[in-house]
Amino acid sequence: MPTIKVTDIAYGRLRAPDLDVMEEFLTDFGMVRAARTRNALYMRGTDPAHHIHVTELGEPAFVGLAWYAASEADLHRLAKLAGASAVEAIDEPGGGKRVRLTEPNGYQIEVVHGIERLAPIPVSRQPLNFGDEPLKRAGVLMRLKRGPAHVKRIGHGVMGSPDLRGTVAWFRDTLGLVCSDDVYAGAKDNIIGSFNRCDRGEEYVDHHVFFCIQHEKKGLNHLSFEVQDVDDVFLGHEHLRQKGKYEHMWGLGRHLLGSQIYDYWADPWGRTHEHWTDTDRINIEAGSNLWSAEDGLVSQWGERPPERMLNRICA
Ligand SMILES: [Fe+2]
Repeated sequence: MPTIKVTDIAYGRLRAPDLDVMEEFLTDFGMVRAARTRNALYMRGTDPAHHIHVTELGEPAFVGLAWYAASEADLHRLAKLAGASAVEAIDEPGGGKRVRLTEPNGYQIEVVHGIERLAPIPVSRQPLNFGDEPLKRAGVLMRLKRGPAHVKRIGHGVMGSPDLRGTVAWFRDTLGLVCSDDVYAGAKDNIIGSFNRCDRGEEYVDHHVFFCIQHEKKGLNHLSFEVQDVDDVFLGHEHLRQKGKYEHMWGLGRHLLGSQIYDYWADPWGRTHEHWTDTDRINIEAGSNLWSAEDGLVSQWGERPPERMLNRICA
């Protein structure tokens, strides 16, 4: 049995030497400022989470990932683990409590509970006249407003590690993540990628909340955020492209494992951030699968990932 079962990913924590530049990128990416202190920037989406992205002022770095505990009692369970912090009050906007742990690559894992929730930011989207619902928008013209995507929530974090097996075992044993799909290259026991989801029993969850890639470098491959719908993915792409100063990493396309329609952009320090919509949602009944890289790591449409995407692991 794992120590606890986290209910979702909460936020990613990065460092950057210029919070104004980071805020400009994240605003262009489609987030909204929740709070800004002298030392840190907290960005939210349209869902009620107080923040889904934290940037501390400092030399560029990936600090770690934060996860929601189901209860405060779960924080006390984690605090008993070797190397864990005590249950501590979070001295940051949104408050709440947390336990800090260190995963096998040395990155900080925060497990949090009781952070303030905010009123959702209203977004209005128009229905589509698609498929067997050809009159969903009968009599109403489609008129989209140009501008950034509207990030809804954080979806997943992706890390590279020289020890994929040890890393994934830690996340499963400590946070209760379960395998959705493992991917091998050559021999079937040579796992090079592992997609993991939250275990919320019968409740349906995103296909993956944590993906780990076997890589000579350890660090962050990308942070990933759900946007409102497919128009939002395309509008967000146009907006970032027209700015003319951001690095496009990969997309658009539709993944096979997870099935998201995706688009990837790097922040001004090269850290990849993903927009996606329409993931597969599965529950504990779905079990776990094993795929070859040739069959599993493909897109249903869209180009193959470029080298810069595959090898961008930020420490
Ligand atoms: Fe992703």
